[in-house]
Amino acid sequence: MVRVYLELTGKGASRAAKRGDVTVIVDVLRSSSTIITALSNGAREIIPARTLKEAVQLYEKHPEALLAGERNAVKPPTFDMGNSPLEYTWGRVLGRTIILTTTDGTKAIKLAGKDARAVLIGAFLNASSVAHVSYDLALKTESDISLVAVGKKGNFALEDFLGAGFIIRRLPNVQEIIDGALMDDAALWAYYSAGAVEKNLKKVIYQGEHAKKLRILGFYKDVEFCLRVDVFSSVPILEKSILVEYKACKEHYCI
Ligand code: MLT
Repeated sequence: MVRVYLELTGKGASRAAKRGDVTVIVDVLRSSSTIITALSNGAREIIPARTLKEAVQLYEKHPEALLAGERNAVKPPTFDMGNSPLEYTWGRVLGRTIILTTTDGTKAIKLAGKDARAVLIGAFLNASSVAHVSYDLALKTESDISLVAVGKKGNFALEDFLGAGFIIRRLPNVQEIIDGALMDDAALWAYYSAGAVEKNLKKVIYQGEHAKKLRILGFYKDVEFCLRVDVFSSVPILEKSILVEYKACKEHYCI
């Protein structure tokens, strides 16, 4: 039976990876939601970068790519795109390679990428699909699942914690996992918290720090967009340091 862990900040990505877990990176506002939207709208691949410098260096190697990201939630002046999922329309991203650097999300992805069994990207937008894919991969590779609620600048973030809770609630056999005492306390806490706020999710998350900051900066519609549940089936997976859409039968994950 699969065990389920929840890491409460981005630094936990390396702990999850060292355990060799199937690791789900959850940065609801906004990098996970942006990545899921971009791949759902036909982007070819997303190359995550830790720093602005690294992103620019990657862009020099891939001048055909779109250079994207944020610092303090705002697009760096020379970049093509920011970190608003609403920018990542079909017309803009279809077939494109995107180099993305964000304050916390892409750092956590890179940390997990070092050792994790597999790195997936999750949010409210793809909660059910990422729950099912992570469970399948954990069974196939005989490993456990870690969710990483990335948070902001090393701190806890409510929306990532609840996003992880929504994903945990959608794991196949979740009741057996709980009954078998195979979930750590943080994961259990997220599971019950997500259940408690299911009906007034928006109200609760709007009270959170990052949602408030984004609304003040004029990104109100991003917050609305990122809080929709199960609107995409796409599950981004990290392969050789690049995020692509998970396909059920990629060579090494085939039954
Ligand atoms: C991050 O990775 O820190 C974020 O996605 C910040 C944001 O643009 O809202």
